[in-house]
Amino acid sequence: MYSSISENNGIAALTEQDQKVYSVGISTAGLAEIRMTQGNPNRHIIATTIDPEGAKFAKKRIEEAGLEDHIDVKMEDIAKPLPYSDGYFDFVYARLVLHYLPKNDLIRALNELYRVLKVSGKLFVVVRSLACSEAHDESATLDPDTGMITYVYNGKTLSRYFHTEESIQNYLTSSGFHIKHVRSFEEKLCVDFQRTQLTGKEYSLIEVFASKVDT
Ligand SMILES: C[S@@+](CC[C@H](N)C(=O)[O-])C[C@H]1O[C@@H](n2cnc3c(N)ncnc32)[C@H](O)[C@@H]1O
Repeated sequence: MYSSISENNGIAALTEQDQKVYSVGISTAGLAEIRMTQGNPNRHIIATTIDPEGAKFAKKRIEEAGLEDHIDVKMEDIAKPLPYSDGYFDFVYARLVLHYLPKNDLIRALNELYRVLKVSGKLFVVVRSLACSEAHDESATLDPDTGMITYVYNGKTLSRYFHTEESIQNYLTSSGFHIKHVRSFEEKLCVDFQRTQLTGKEYSLIEVFASKVDT
């Protein structure tokens, strides 16, 4: 099974103190969340998705791993107000999900993530970069109001917000976050749920690690 650079970085960023974790957009089959929980009996993860099939499959795998008391899979849209009290979570993991959000939804989501993090809380974000070739495909069109680029890939019409290091950092700092690091790199992604089959190409990604207060 393939485990990616940015997933490994996000899991490595968790500390023993990070017990309440919010994973926005659960990983395929809950694999990242299972790794975050194994060996950490005090950690509890709420992992969300808007895909009922993905949620069902991840729940099954989590049950097979005996971790259903540690990982809750919920249908929840990050573009909507979150049902958690202020300062509830120690850590938010948002890998490869925030680039689905148009500008206004992204602002609302980051404001909510800031609210639900503890004062000592951390946020790990990975988004697609504007350096991705799809963003420059001849089919690609930019909506200047939302920041979304719509393009055709393998016969499907898709929309993403392709970020620059500057754009994602600006959104994060405008919501109150303090940037701890930002880095750009290429990574291969998988096409299948079991993560056995890599796509032939590399994707340009931006990873940002941020904190609620300046530490
Ligand atoms: C590309 S997958 C991968 C995400 C996962 N964090 C990982 O690193 O493997 C994107 C996930 O985000 C979910 N998603 C997309 N839009 C969402 C939204 N508005 N709110 C919550 N989850 C969303 C999808 O259903 C899917 O589970």
